[in-house]
Amino acid sequence: MINKISTLGGYIHEYQKSVANPREFWEQIAHEFYWHKKWDKVLDWDFREPRIEWFKNGKLNITENIFERNLFTRGNQPAIIWEPNDPNDQNRILTYNELYREVCKFANVLLSMGIRKGDRVAIYMPMIPELAISMLACARIGAVHSIVFAGFSANSLADRIIDAEAKIVLTSDGAYRGSKTIPIKEIVDEALETCPSVEHVVMVERTREKVAVKAGRDHLWSDLMQSASHENQAVEVDSEDMLFILYTSGSTGKPKGIVHTTGGYMVYAAYTFKNVFQYSDGDVYFCSADIGWITGHSYIIYGPLLNGATSLMFEGIPTYPDGGRYWDIVNKYNVNQFYTAPTAIRALMALGQQFVENKGMPSLKVLGSVGEPINEMAWHWYHDHVGNNRCPIVDTWWQTETGGIAISPLAGIIPTKPSFATLPMPGIQPVIVDHEGKELAGRSVEGILCIKFPWPGMLRTIYGDHERFKQTYFSNYDNLYFSGDGVKRDEDGYYRILGRVDDVINVSGHRMGTAEVENAINAHPLVNESAVVGYPHDIKGQGIFAFVVCGELSTGGEEGIKTSILKAVSKIIGPIAKPDKILLVSGLPKTRSGKIMRRILRKIAEGETASFGDTTTLLDPGVVNEIVSAAQKLK
Ligand code: PRX
Repeated sequence: MINKISTLGGYIHEYQKSVANPREFWEQIAHEFYWHKKWDKVLDWDFREPRIEWFKNGKLNITENIFERNLFTRGNQPAIIWEPNDPNDQNRILTYNELYREVCKFANVLLSMGIRKGDRVAIYMPMIPELAISMLACARIGAVHSIVFAGFSANSLADRIIDAEAKIVLTSDGAYRGSKTIPIKEIVDEALETCPSVEHVVMVERTREKVAVKAGRDHLWSDLMQSASHENQAVEVDSEDMLFILYTSGSTGKPKGIVHTTGGYMVYAAYTFKNVFQYSDGDVYFCSADIGWITGHSYIIYGPLLNGATSLMFEGIPTYPDGGRYWDIVNKYNVNQFYTAPTAIRALMALGQQFVENKGMPSLKVLGSVGEPINEMAWHWYHDHVGNNRCPIVDTWWQTETGGIAISPLAGIIPTKPSFATLPMPGIQPVIVDHEGKELAGRSVEGILCIKFPWPGMLRTIYGDHERFKQTYFSNYDNLYFSGDGVKRDEDGYYRILGRVDDVINVSGHRMGTAEVENAINAHPLVNESAVVGYPHDIKGQGIFAFVVCGELSTGGEEGIKTSILKAVSKIIGPIAKPDKILLVSGLPKTRSGKIMRRILRKIAEGETASFGDTTTLLDPGVVNEIVSAAQKLK
């Protein structure tokens, strides 16, 4: 079992060890796992190439480390507690034995459908137990899962299936989300019209609504499972074989397929889970994220289950049937650690105290936050009303790319400070640089967050595009991993994340490229061009502000075109990318070389009316006043 750091002195000691001798540090932790064959070399790396290899030539299967390694001692302990959308529906509790059986069965199903090691499997499913079973079954046979958040449109799903050349799609008939039912299979069918690589679809029956079935291609999960054997020998993979692909947005182009491999990711997810949340045997841990995002991968499934933890998986939303749902779940299962996003906290805070007061929640020991900066007001509300002033908050900074938590307090060990992610995890060597890449050493500095040494959980490449991997993360600053985030290190050496420094925005904890949203808007036949920026939003953290130039207005007038733009964005990306504000303008502020000055648009979106700094390089400075007065009229 992984050792748990238990004092501040212990943290400092571990951290120093991890920097002085990272190979020895991680090797010691890796020895806690079950390997068919141990590595020849702990680490081989070169950020300039870039190439990162951990536990080289080690052979293993991650699911053996979840099951075979844990079954003897905790076969009858719950692995996953599944809470349905409707609190009156039947929950499901899967012990390690039961989950193991299901995973083995579905692994055999995948094998029977011709899926083999290295094949990509697309998963587009709501938060149901079969989603967890699917991903682990892929890992069991060495197939690569590519989970697509079930809120993305058919278009986005198709893009991801095509990019990964997935052979099979695992899905459900529909999904429950609060009072809504979502036609998941219909979306898959639409996506598959343009995906020739897909040979099979396996569908879980969740809502039991009527769906179209394509003979020969579509199969029912229940039919296949009925005859599947529960005996399955895990496939041995290399430490650097792909475990999964997960798409995320960048500042340019299409979403990137972030590749995580097996050995390093396993060690890092398990180590960070145990230490950040200070998980103890028997605790019940609840992360409210969706498995469609990295948080769900690392901290609902892999991190907790590798530690033999009990992980709660929730199908629904925080406001259904009312704003007390999370707290009712905490009380129903005596949750000890609760991990959520600031956007959820702010939304619940806005509903008022009545849903949280009197809930008590005496079982809670640790609260976590992830995905975006947590503002002080939300931090205090979380701390006072949810944690009853006695639970430490771990504000965890990390990214799809980092694989696991990179900067965060260890609960109850590193003293917290509202809105600070505090200190790096052992093994993480952050540096702050200025725009020229000069390191800003010492305390009380602010700049761009980079990391100068590899850690086992980091991404290895962008699927199918290693050059883009190099350009995106290793070309801005020499020999450093570029995170894309601005950061401040204060007088205590604590890190505070300030938000993205590139054209990525964070809307309700969902990461989005402004270029992606612009492309979707520009696809509208009446749109000439557009520029999208983020602006501060009380609940979402950032809202999406779109400045749009149209050739002519359709018969529906301004409102008509705005409505059709929203529809287009929903269709091309998904409802999460819909702009909160659309301003129709006659032109965008551009430099003489044709570059849009987003800095000015960001200020206008924030409500600024006068001081825009130097605008002398603008081709037509008059356009700024015009946009400002139009923005003032926008509701
Ligand atoms: O800007 C940072 C923000 O979320 C980005 C990563 O998004 P994603 O890959 O979707 O992963 C989210 C879940 C790990 C980061 O570049 N971010 C994440 N956590 C924090 C944060 N910003 C401030 N504080 C955090 N704790």
